[in-house]
Amino acid sequence: MSGSPSLLDELGTLEKEALAAVEAASTPGELEAARITFLGRKEGRISGILRRLGEMDPAERPRVGARANEVKKALQEALDRREEALATGRGTPGAEGPDLTLPGRAAWIGGVHPVTRVIDDLVEIFRELGFTRARGPEAETEWYNFEALNTPLDHPAADEQDTLYLKGGHLLRSHTSPVQVRVLEQYEPPIRILAPGMVYRRDTFDATHTPAFAQLEGLVVDEGVTFVDLKATLAEFARRYWGPDTKIRFRPSFFPFTEPSAEVDVKGGDGEWLEIMGAGMVDPAVLEAAGLDAERYTGFAFGMGPGRIGLLRHRIPDLRLFLENDVRFLSRFARP
Ligand code: DAH
Repeated sequence: MSGSPSLLDELGTLEKEALAAVEAASTPGELEAARITFLGRKEGRISGILRRLGEMDPAERPRVGARANEVKKALQEALDRREEALATGRGTPGAEGPDLTLPGRAAWIGGVHPVTRVIDDLVEIFRELGFTRARGPEAETEWYNFEALNTPLDHPAADEQDTLYLKGGHLLRSHTSPVQVRVLEQYEPPIRILAPGMVYRRDTFDATHTPAFAQLEGLVVDEGVTFVDLKATLAEFARRYWGPDTKIRFRPSFFPFTEPSAEVDVKGGDGEWLEIMGAGMVDPAVLEAAGLDAERYTGFAFGMGPGRIGLLRHRIPDLRLFLENDVRFLSRFARP
């Protein structure tokens, strides 16, 4: 009988076929199918050959059995290698598993709101100039919001800052200036503070107005503070924020809590004058309302809108964008 050479031949052919099938497998599923086809216990083709050992000359059986084991071992090794290759992405292009050639996907971890960022930048510059941060309540009294700031309730300046009234005689502060009075009551001069926070007005909601917005208040009070200190401080601030060639100008204005009062404009790189803040020398009536000796102390104050500053800086056409929580807009300001 010539059974043994033909079984050995069959094993040789099967080995080649099996190794080719393993290499051709491009997914874990195809690889598993190849394993079952060749190494499967019941239906596998090697098992099939071994089941036919009985047809053979008993003297030849050990050779065929040994050869079958060799083929099994080679095949198992090839399967292991291929499995590893598919798992690490070194398989055929387009195979399942991670494709390490793709660009990474950046994780969105959120960011600081653009207006908060402006505030942080402004506070940092003033910190270098010796200012510390102060805060006051958003629910204020008429005394702090108006009267202590030299603004009688029937004064037209109070109408301009009409706001929302709460139960119990409180109102939502219409500006951050009341923090001036609270700080003056609490601390001895010299005082150099910056008070950022939200303020509220009975305003329309349009491209240039929102009924809630951020303000940044500054206050300096000490012996011998003059208008020169005000100008020098604000000019230095403007140069640090908008660049070394920035100019500032003061236009006469009116605020009940400062005398004299000014609107301050800055001219940045593009040559346009931008109206940035109100400022002035603290009115002696404000110092007195806070219990200070106005003969001994003088000071200056200023107030600006960080939202407006951000708007000008980033050429944003509509203030409402700051309040809509649209991530497509907000994510453009995220710092890495
Ligand atoms: N409180 C003013 C407002 O909301 C802004 C302001 C002007 C603040 C002049 C000041 C100042 O401290 O000196 O319109």
